[in-house]
Amino acid sequence: MRFSAALTRLALTVGVASAESAFSPARPPSIPLAVKSPYLNSWLNVGGEENGGYLAGGWPRFWAQQITGWTGFIRVDGVPYAWLGAAPGAALVNQTHFSYTSTRSTFILDAGGKVEMSVTFLSPVTANDLRRQCLTFSYLDVGVHSLDGVSHDVQLYADVSAEWASGDLGSIVQWDYDTADGVAYHQFARQEQVEIQEANQQASWGTWYWSTKDDEGLTWQSGFDTDVRGNFVWDGDLTNTKDTDFRPVNQNWPVFGFAKDLGVVNGRIISTIFSIGLTQDAAINLREEGGGFTTYSSLWKSYFHTGLEAMTFFYNDYDEASRIATDLDDKIAADSLAVAGQDYLTITSLSVRQTFGALQFTGTAEDPVVFLKEISSNSDIQTVDVIFPAVPLILYLNPQLVCYLLKPLFLNQENGHYPKRSAIHDLGIFPLAKGYPDGNDESMPVEESGNMIIMVLAYAQRTGNVDYLDAHYPILKQWADYLVDETLIPAHQLSTDDFAGMLANQTNLALKGIIALRAMSEIAELTGRAEDAASFGETARSYIDQWQDLGINNAADPPHTTLSYGDTSSHGLLYNLYANSLLGFDYDFVPKSVYDGQSDFYPTVALEHGVALDTRHTWIKTDWMMWAAAIASEDTRDTLIRLLARWISATTTNMAFTDLYDATTGDYPNTGLRFTARPAVGGHFALLGLPKQWPL
Ligand SMILES: *[C@@H]1O[C@H](CO)[C@@H](O)[C@H](O)[C@H]1NC(C)=O
Ligand SMILES: *[C@@H]1O[C@H](CO)[C@@H](O)[C@H](O)[C@H]1NC(C)=O
Repeated sequence: MRFSAALTRLALTVGVASAESAFSPARPPSIPLAVKSPYLNSWLNVGGEENGGYLAGGWPRFWAQQITGWTGFIRVDGVPYAWLGAAPGAALVNQTHFSYTSTRSTFILDAGGKVEMSVTFLSPVTANDLRRQCLTFSYLDVGVHSLDGVSHDVQLYADVSAEWASGDLGSIVQWDYDTADGVAYHQFARQEQVEIQEANQQASWGTWYWSTKDDEGLTWQSGFDTDVRGNFVWDGDLTNTKDTDFRPVNQNWPVFGFAKDLGVVNGRIISTIFSIGLTQDAAINLREEGGGFTTYSSLWKSYFHTGLEAMTFFYNDYDEASRIATDLDDKIAADSLAVAGQDYLTITSLSVRQTFGALQFTGTAEDPVVFLKEISSNSDIQTVDVIFPAVPLILYLNPQLVCYLLKPLFLNQENGHYPKRSAIHDLGIFPLAKGYPDGNDESMPVEESGNMIIMVLAYAQRTGNVDYLDAHYPILKQWADYLVDETLIPAHQLSTDDFAGMLANQTNLALKGIIALRAMSEIAELTGRAEDAASFGETARSYIDQWQDLGINNAADPPHTTLSYGDTSSHGLLYNLYANSLLGFDYDFVPKSVYDGQSDFYPTVALEHGVALDTRHTWIKTDWMMWAAAIASEDTRDTLIRLLARWISATTTNMAFTDLYDATTGDYPNTGLRFTARPAVGGHFALLGLPKQWPL
């Protein structure tokens, strides 16, 4: 076969690009490509065995590390080059520059010194525009222009493989090709649809769309990867034919290709837009009223009749989506720079897509419900102490989303499906929120009770929604009553940092519960319950006085809190103090001396890559470190931010932004924990989540 012969010959020319790329503002451990939901979550690993941040030569990977086959070739005056993926068949383009913003990853690539490509992966984040936010699609924009002042004859190729559609490579996939509303698309899906189930973290249901403009000069083909790619590499176009042999993902690997003849390319940039995405009708099952499950539909169904309509809207919306994305990029850049400078922006802008990529938007336009996947730590759904660290970003972009995220937790517990007095930890394993009717969730009673009350008040303060406080008052009071009994002297238990183990009398955990009691007093006050307000308020004040005696090592210089009461050889990040500032209580409640002591102390125990979470390990939690930074003195704040920003380029971790790493090596903890792609990085927005002005 001539294609195979062509590939064999061309394979000899495959090599590593020799030129060096610049990386701006940093070279992250993993580069977000299409990151829009727990199932549309594709990255280019940078560190370790991978390709060092070069788009050509490495495979994009799902967060759980399966390959999401994505391939790009370009032919310039008949000479093929590879610009995306690791398929053989052509020399690799030279990458000269990479940059990222909050919503975009952009690669500048040089093909033979003749044409330059600007390849942008855009995953929109529109927290205030749910019609767009709920579309689990992402854009790829490939701009091409002449580099050497000479006109060139250029054809562009891109495909995706069936690997996107199933985490089980042995499952059969079927596909089709068509056009609609000016969009040419391949659609593909598992033949056996298994709703609300996963294989290796990938969805086992739903339909994938890979699309581009239905335009002159476009050819397409589905089929065996070496045939389809070989056709392009050899001929510069495809056969406009559909492979009808539906088969498993890994059997003669089916791919879905587009080739675009760009014709004569000169100095003007010619742009070709592609989109990749998934539509699912049903999204989540939740146990709420009664004994059975309620199925939550994907939110896009509230705005569009069919998946096809959603896809063509998304594709044709590129100009507007791109403008909105630029506004968000600019806002986050301006705010991050204003509050703490470029190092801070390096961190925040890498955290936005990752946080929103863990969210699944469901329900209806009138009553949206947002589900969160904990991702790599164990894929729990609606984990309260993973929503909690992410809440600064959510509050900063749209506080209303907090209400949509907490809704499933209230539905479950207010309908009597959880037997304990304290708040639940999570609702099960994503995407099945079956809860814990027997109360056998991971037990973090003080942690989650405190988190719920703090998040509820933070939301209400920013939206003015007192009715919400009233509606949930009984269960909030139940949790607050639990904290009255259990937070000053916390029993032997886990906090959110469960990887560090159980401990009694955790100083930082106790503080959270005490701040939550102060918050409950505020909630009672706002809802006209003067007696409760006085009682929770007095308890909170009495506890905060006692807590200072129990938890602060005053003999130390500078005085600082211990990890647990009385253990003067211990210390830890007092990140829960951030909640006191988040709710605007400030020094009226926790004295300034506590803030100052911590602020002076942290730099004295800083390690190579940051200040460790506590004295049990040399581990950094990036979210909590930024929480601590947000309320520290300017010097300490800037030190913590500088260490984390520097780590982003220095780390040898190679998967999406880990929120847990070793402070001395910068690598993953030596216990094998790999906290990758988690939404906890929303906590990096701690400085921007603090109150400015709000209605309440
Ligand atoms: C990449 O750059 C090197 C060094 O300048 C050059 O020798 C090589 O031909 C370039 N490759 C491509 C595909 O442009
Ligand atoms: C916790 O702290 C209290 C107050 O200092 C003390 O009485 C109690 O023994 C401590 N509990 C444990 C398990 O150390």
